[in-house]
Amino acid sequence: MADIPYPPELMRDVAKRRTFGIISHPDAGKTTLTEKLLLFGGAIQLAGTVKARKSARHATSDWMEVEKQRGISVTSSVMQFEYQGHTINLLDTPGHQDFSEDTYRVLTAVDAAVMVIDAAKGVEAQTIKLLEVCRLRNTPIITFVNKMDREVRETFDLLQEIEEVLKIDCAPITWPIGMGKTFRGVYHLLEDRVLRFTAGEEKRSEGELIKGIVNAQLDELFPLEVGKLRDDVDLIQGASTPFSLGDFLAGKQTPVFFGSGINNFGVQEILQALIDWAPPPQPRVAGVNSAGVSDSDTRLVQPAEAPFSGFVFKIQANMDPKHRDRIAFFRICSGRYTSGMKVKHVRAGRDMKLANALTFMANERVLMEDGVAGDIIGIHNHGQLHIGDTLTEGESLGFKGIPYFSPELFSAARLRDPLKSKQLQKGLQELGEEGAIQVFEQEGGNMLLGAVGQLQFEVVAQRLKDEYKVDAIFESADIHTARWLTFPDDVTRRNFEREQAMRIGKDVDGNPVYLASSRYNLEVTMEKWPKVGFHATREHGQVLA
Ligand code: G4P
Repeated sequence: MADIPYPPELMRDVAKRRTFGIISHPDAGKTTLTEKLLLFGGAIQLAGTVKARKSARHATSDWMEVEKQRGISVTSSVMQFEYQGHTINLLDTPGHQDFSEDTYRVLTAVDAAVMVIDAAKGVEAQTIKLLEVCRLRNTPIITFVNKMDREVRETFDLLQEIEEVLKIDCAPITWPIGMGKTFRGVYHLLEDRVLRFTAGEEKRSEGELIKGIVNAQLDELFPLEVGKLRDDVDLIQGASTPFSLGDFLAGKQTPVFFGSGINNFGVQEILQALIDWAPPPQPRVAGVNSAGVSDSDTRLVQPAEAPFSGFVFKIQANMDPKHRDRIAFFRICSGRYTSGMKVKHVRAGRDMKLANALTFMANERVLMEDGVAGDIIGIHNHGQLHIGDTLTEGESLGFKGIPYFSPELFSAARLRDPLKSKQLQKGLQELGEEGAIQVFEQEGGNMLLGAVGQLQFEVVAQRLKDEYKVDAIFESADIHTARWLTFPDDVTRRNFEREQAMRIGKDVDGNPVYLASSRYNLEVTMEKWPKVGFHATREHGQVLA
């Protein structure tokens, strides 16, 4: 491929793309920031659009209502908008009760992430988990410390916590002046200017600029805060690591911005950082053997290569029982999508026609006319496409880095009608293969379901009912976590299987999995079997040795 020049138009269009997701703990301000980014990007005219959807989803725990909302969550799954000559794709990372394995997988389809931290709360549990997922691909992270208009934690403490807990260097780009009632604004460390904070919800302009930290205007305006600001800045310039684009792109350092999403403050800087610093679509590693799943035989697929390729990272089932159609969310990795194009479904070894793919503008689904690497298209299908599947213009590729994640919730399926056990097995096998949930078979044929979020169980129960006519109840199982197993040799495998028979299951592809009853149980077993590999993720299509 290397000696064929890339089409210049494709190179130009790819360079304009920025594809990112937001990682945060619930209530840190992800929805607010999303909305403000769309507002600043001109994609929505009025604040409240995204929030209204969120509260509609929140307001109900009734399943039928949740079901209706699925339509909405399809449209808010990807939000594309133009900003300063760039095409921005913001991929939603479902949180709250929508938190699921999809949330993790969305992060396998982005080139950068914005991490929102609540300045009063610091680093919280879900942020830690999501950052671990970003780390699998060293995704560059931009940090937005939100809610500075509240009484919050000391800035140096917060940065130290981010560095220690998340193991990533912080390079402050802006620095807050005061907080809560006395939040005055931020000082931009690279541009030597103060951006003045004024509270206000609906305006787009971002307040007044004051040039230079020694400017006497600052002493007049903020006599009580300016001394501390100058001391802080001296300290940062002496002690903290300066921003390095290379370290940011390698996922080792995060530029940090302070602001208040609800007050539109600091949002413009985040958009600017995405345009200036976040990477355009990156090359992706793909296996190149006939099934496209090889570990050893791989190549880098360049985003501006002319042949089209990409992978499915999320499946949204249409909950209408009369139609078994679903939408596969597909990240383009190279080439150009054109409606009606013929592509190869690598896993199935068949050709298929891609027509009427959807794209997702901020508010609505529209038919996709043209898409390049970094863009997400929605492909209607009837179950042919699974998570992790690759489509190409002929080459047998299999993209890496779209793993199954170790489940955090487990339940056992029990049938109301025992005569339906065949259907249950079939349903779970198919839903497991599609990626809606993880299914493990234990000794004696017990089917165990594993998920990352509670919603996955609800979706599966409903789909079993609608699509397979099976009424199943899920009972929570006493399992803490699962780890995929690899063995150095057959003797170790046999010995391990003999000793741990009760704790071993098989996943949908027949791979052995250790089902730990507690964190302690996992640690003890790992210590006892140092040569056995315990893996928290597994690639789709991968068969473990
Ligand atoms: P999430 O998507 O991460 O869950 O968070 P979301 O944006 O919904 O924000 C959670 C709460 O924090 C909301 O308040 C929101 O208004 C508030 N918030 C977001 N950004 C800021 C900020 O910069 N400053 C302050 N003070 N609050 C902020 P809520 O009471 O749950 O909802 P609402 O009634 O305000 O809509």
